[in-house]
Amino acid sequence: MSPLQAQQKAGRYERLLSQLAELYQITSDPISRMATAAALLYHKMGHFYWVGFYRLVEGQLLVGPYQGTLACQKLKTNTGVCWAGVHQNQPIVVPDVHQFPGHIACDPKSRSEIVIPVRNEQGIVQAVLDGDSDLPAAFDSVDAEYLNQLSQMIFNS
Ligand code: SME
Repeated sequence: MSPLQAQQKAGRYERLLSQLAELYQITSDPISRMATAAALLYHKMGHFYWVGFYRLVEGQLLVGPYQGTLACQKLKTNTGVCWAGVHQNQPIVVPDVHQFPGHIACDPKSRSEIVIPVRNEQGIVQAVLDGDSDLPAAFDSVDAEYLNQLSQMIFNS
């Protein structure tokens, strides 16, 4: 990605985060907030083929609010990128999903992926934010930085 494109992406994230901060005044309900974030990310950023949340519910990762093609409702336990995000408790950027052991292909068009843990006020992981692209290497440290800020706003703003 050229420096201009990187700057453009950062600018879009900046605007999106301030819009979300305003919208998050309306309710602190985490599911409403996830839905709002997924819609804004999908429609305003332009580089997500699929974006949404998987929530930890009774030890399982179940799909939450999302935008894009039909997703797996329940992810096989301790397998794939989303579970890796839960266990490692840090952002995971996957430039080529075919090289990630155990990657779960809900949509075979997915080529690269980013997963960010979503923590509550106590710092406990409650969900992950998952972004997919149909292009290889679509996500980088700029995405990780801004999506991490966004994810922490769900329970802590
Ligand atoms: N690829 C994910 C599964 C979720 S879909 O990308 C929407 C994984 O490996 O956990």
